[in-house]
Amino acid sequence: MKPPLDVVTGAYGYSGRYLAQRLLETGRTVRTLTANPSRPDLFRGRVDAHPFSFDEPARLVETLRGADTLYNTYWVRFPYRGVGFEHAVENTRILFAAAREAGVRRIVHVSVTNAEESSPLPYFHWKAVLERELRESGMSFAIVRPTVVFGREDILVNNIAWILRRLPLFVVPGDGRYRLQPVAVEDLAALCVEVGLRQEDVALDAAGPETYTFDELVTLLRDAVGSRARIVHAPSRLAHGLGSLIGRAVRDVLVTRDELEGLAAGLLVSHGPPTAETSFRAWVSEHGGDLGRTYASELGRHYRR
Ligand SMILES: NC(=O)c1ccc[n+]([C@@H]2O[C@H](COP(=O)([O-])OP(=O)(O)OC[C@H]3O[C@@H](n4cnc5c(N)ncnc54)[C@H](OP(=O)(O)O)[C@@H]3O)[C@@H](O)[C@H]2O)c1
Repeated sequence: MKPPLDVVTGAYGYSGRYLAQRLLETGRTVRTLTANPSRPDLFRGRVDAHPFSFDEPARLVETLRGADTLYNTYWVRFPYRGVGFEHAVENTRILFAAAREAGVRRIVHVSVTNAEESSPLPYFHWKAVLERELRESGMSFAIVRPTVVFGREDILVNNIAWILRRLPLFVVPGDGRYRLQPVAVEDLAALCVEVGLRQEDVALDAAGPETYTFDELVTLLRDAVGSRARIVHAPSRLAHGLGSLIGRAVRDVLVTRDELEGLAAGLLVSHGPPTAETSFRAWVSEHGGDLGRTYASELGRHYRR
């Protein structure tokens, strides 16, 4: 019998690639939807790639037909070049509708911790809107809400390390006492697959076993990469201004003001028990030699091809 087919968005991206790998290891067949199907094939022919084609819903339906579960990671990190969160929400609605029409059994949707419709931060607001719409859609669903995801291809942790390696100062926005609870990308993928195989509707956070203040996290990274940078504090506006200068120098958006606000509000921690096992400290000590050697560019990944 042919193994069941799942569709993963972004299998050449960050979390989607670990999801696809995990599904293949579980014996499933995997198809991916991606913004860029012509990227080098990481899976040596084992994953067939199709464009998102949000503007051709009928084509999207055909790509999803026959799939058991849709694993959705699609999102934009920040508004850029006229593509904002509303646009990503609209595309996600098209994707969910296509999955329903194609007869997909279940949707596993990757959201974010502490998504609330009342949030003043558009990222968290719109994520909550989509969560609600999926819950109300009548489809079988699992919502997985990661904190901050660490792994070899990650951007945030890598770029903190990159700054620590290159500059004599690291400027922490605000008091640095706000907390984060990093989750390993492999654990996120395993959790998604675990809930994808279940029948009942479920929503849960993907959160690692350790919580750090931002100061502790930066200090841990500084020690791991052998940096002697001084860690100083500055008002969030100033830190954001400096981040924008660095972003301009590397032709990227290093961090947005909303992201700093989300961090400072402690939105990247879970209020439930940890759901993942990998220790961030152990991972950093194992990978410190590689972390931050090169800059990881969001615009390079998604806008310059
Ligand atoms: N990374 C984290 O620390 C973190 C934390 C909390 C929640 N999340 C959530 O986890 C999910 C996956 O995040 P990720 O970091 O693994 O993302 P990613 O792989 O960089 O992107 C996920 C998918 O969205 C597409 N995409 C991203 N930016 C796009 C853009 N500007 N235009 C068009 N398509 C775009 C990607 O396209 P390609 O197919 O071309 O790669 C990919 O298919 C997202 O829903 C995110 O909100 C992530």
